[in-house]
Amino acid sequence: MTDPVETVPRRSLLLGAALAGGGLLTGACTNANAGAGASGGAPAPASAKFDPRDWTSVRAQFPLTPNLAHFSAFMLSSHPAPVTAAITKFRQGLDANPIEFGMGMADFEFSSQARQALAKYIGTQPNEIALTDSATMGIGLLYGGLALKEGDEILTTSHEFYSTYEAVRLRATATGAKVRTIRLYDDPAQAKADQMVARVKAAITSKTRVLAMTWVHSITGVKIPVKQIAALLATVNAGRREPDRVLLCVDGVHGFAAEAATMKDLGADFFVTSTHKWLFGPRGTGFVWGTPAAWRRHRQIIPSFSMPAFQGWFTGQPPGGAPGDLATPGGYHTFEHRWALPAAVEFHTAIGPARVAEQIKTQSEQLKAGLAGLRHVRLVTPRSAEVSAGVICCAVEGMHPEAVVERLVKEHQVAAAATPYRETYVRFGPSMVTTSQEVDKAVRAMAALA
Ligand SMILES: Cc1ncc(COP(=O)(O)O)c(C=O)c1O
Repeated sequence: MTDPVETVPRRSLLLGAALAGGGLLTGACTNANAGAGASGGAPAPASAKFDPRDWTSVRAQFPLTPNLAHFSAFMLSSHPAPVTAAITKFRQGLDANPIEFGMGMADFEFSSQARQALAKYIGTQPNEIALTDSATMGIGLLYGGLALKEGDEILTTSHEFYSTYEAVRLRATATGAKVRTIRLYDDPAQAKADQMVARVKAAITSKTRVLAMTWVHSITGVKIPVKQIAALLATVNAGRREPDRVLLCVDGVHGFAAEAATMKDLGADFFVTSTHKWLFGPRGTGFVWGTPAAWRRHRQIIPSFSMPAFQGWFTGQPPGGAPGDLATPGGYHTFEHRWALPAAVEFHTAIGPARVAEQIKTQSEQLKAGLAGLRHVRLVTPRSAEVSAGVICCAVEGMHPEAVVERLVKEHQVAAAATPYRETYVRFGPSMVTTSQEVDKAVRAMAALA
């Protein structure tokens, strides 16, 4: 029997050459009309030269329903044309010859390119990144593998999304660690960075090992001061041995690609996100990043399909290799989506992360100012950009959020959402696919509910 590790490099070279010949590896970022689009077989947008400096051209890359203001597009991405084109190319390869295309070195190579693209984007090393299918998978992998023991404490907040809440609960059940939950603010609209840091500081004990926090709360739109919390932990951890240090674990879903920040800017130990929200990357993609020291506190829980893991298996040794490799769940995936991640990063980078963040900030301020002027609307998200990002939550007097969302879309062609929490609000997310005119339209629609 032939050794797969011996044979895959040859396959990989052939594949690489084939794809490069097809233009996929050349990084071309044009609006290719690449087969079926997202909306029930509708074609991707008609071919037009993509100009990343022109917001109209950016919007034209998305096959989103026209005449609808998409304020919920950030929840699950619509694929822009370059992402659709990359997925289609990979899909064609997999469909034509799944064994040759989908096994072994092809995945090592294209997943490695995905890691490299993400690492460049967040300013880290590729081998510190584990690829996942969603933020929830990343959150489960992260907390499920953290080295904890009875008596240890996981400190979290009452503002987390279900995935973190459930993952820390499961980890506590398995290890005997305790979960303690604090509120970082009482009234979200009045949330202040200093107050949030002070509450974290007051809650940390000698038993705290993990701080499980979300960068931008999807229930209220509050953005926590991650960097200041990281600075606080640096002081707390200075006198502790490595296994006793508090790890700052951040669910970054609604800050990632909405704010222009690298991992260095944030200072967290672990950062988890999906890439199918504000990045508008392929649906079913995400990652976990950790510092080398943080990964040393993590145990792999799903067999990885990485080269070092296979080599360990072949030689009868425990798997070695980089933490990001080992923490990436193995098995076959919707590879065409994962491998298309570089196209999404390239698309976003071409527009410019700082420009995207500025666009979101400008529209958010415009929307908040408009909503704040309506007597029947209570803004839940703070006005200040220091403690908010692109998620804007509000309540309408006498109306359930679901009813508001229904009327907005039916009567005004404005797509918002109701937050999926026990305490629920109407939520808007201005992004690269919305315009200032659509923000005005959303405010007019909310005014008409009076
Ligand atoms: C704060 C937060 N974290 C995580 C998730 C889950 O993300 P994913 O769908 O990628 O698992 C959500 C909701 O979509 C969320 O609002």
